[in-house]
Amino acid sequence: MYSFKNDYAEGAHPRILNALMESNFEQEDGYGEDRYSRKAVELLKEKLGRTDVDIHLIPGGTQTNLIAISAFLRPHEAAIAANSGHIQTHETGAIEATGHKVLSVETKDGKLTPKGIQEVLDAHTDEHMVKPKLVYISNSTEIGSIYNKAELQALSNFCREHNLIFYMDGARLGSALCSSENDLKLSDFPELVDAYYIGGTKNGALIGEALVICRDSLKEDFRFHMKQKGALLAKGRLLGIQFLELFRDNLFFELAQHANNMAKRISEELKQANIKFLTHSPSNQIFPILPNGVINELQKNYAFILWEKVDQDHSAIRIVTSWATKEEAVDTFLGDIRKYL
Ligand SMILES: Cc1ncc(COP(=O)(O)O)c(C=O)c1O
Repeated sequence: MYSFKNDYAEGAHPRILNALMESNFEQEDGYGEDRYSRKAVELLKEKLGRTDVDIHLIPGGTQTNLIAISAFLRPHEAAIAANSGHIQTHETGAIEATGHKVLSVETKDGKLTPKGIQEVLDAHTDEHMVKPKLVYISNSTEIGSIYNKAELQALSNFCREHNLIFYMDGARLGSALCSSENDLKLSDFPELVDAYYIGGTKNGALIGEALVICRDSLKEDFRFHMKQKGALLAKGRLLGIQFLELFRDNLFFELAQHANNMAKRISEELKQANIKFLTHSPSNQIFPILPNGVINELQKNYAFILWEKVDQDHSAIRIVTSWATKEEAVDTFLGDIRKYL
């Protein structure tokens, strides 16, 4: 059984494991005050070309979203997200559990637009309702689409004009940045968003996300929020060592590029066989629509998510490739699809 279910099925890139092994017996301070975490934060700031951002290393994605969003909002304020947004669909009400409503906007491609946000603002007019205050997007989105620079700039301008906090979930930012359709650089984001995170867990790290806070008014006491929500790791070195290894050279981008290349090979071959896709997704998640009979056969040897019924005879499946997806597995998978089609 080979899994195309997600991009966290494998452990970590061997270079990361080696770095953890090599530093194993060194004694370090705890809670992110170790030399590795400090260096990783400095290195990331260098890569972003910004010394004025705050960077915090946090173990997981849901944790990062809920700590950041709850720290940034006042009690009556709410977040706005696409109906497919991760905080809306797959975080067990984690944001709501901190006391903040998530207001959702219908989208087909998983991407928010100023128009969609405006509709939410128009529907929330006074103190008898929650006050929409933070705009949540993810890049790439939960359905594999990516934002281009013009789209992010438009959202950024809209948020500034309407005094909204603009927050980007970058669990799969590596994949978005390495997409053949991407026109953004890692260093563009501090200009565009108020806070965002660079995902490690889904891009070769064992665990870890790097939250970048760009807007000054959001920075205060953030480590208090982390500690209160259980995210200030005693062995914070574990996160520092991993981010240092990912960004020491080009590893972070090489791993994301590999994941994208594997997805692209599958989607190009399927397009040649006239297979349609549920969404346009130029990243490491693709959603081909296949006859149910083919899906049943594939399920005998491959794990993937059955995403959505499309009609009586066809369903969309979600195929996710990772930094570690094997080329031979992709070849065999494509051969099997050809056989069953
Ligand atoms: C866009 C996005 N954000 C956040 C998360 C949550 O990450 P975690 O499972 O580490 O909490 C995921 C996980 O799938 C995700 O896809």
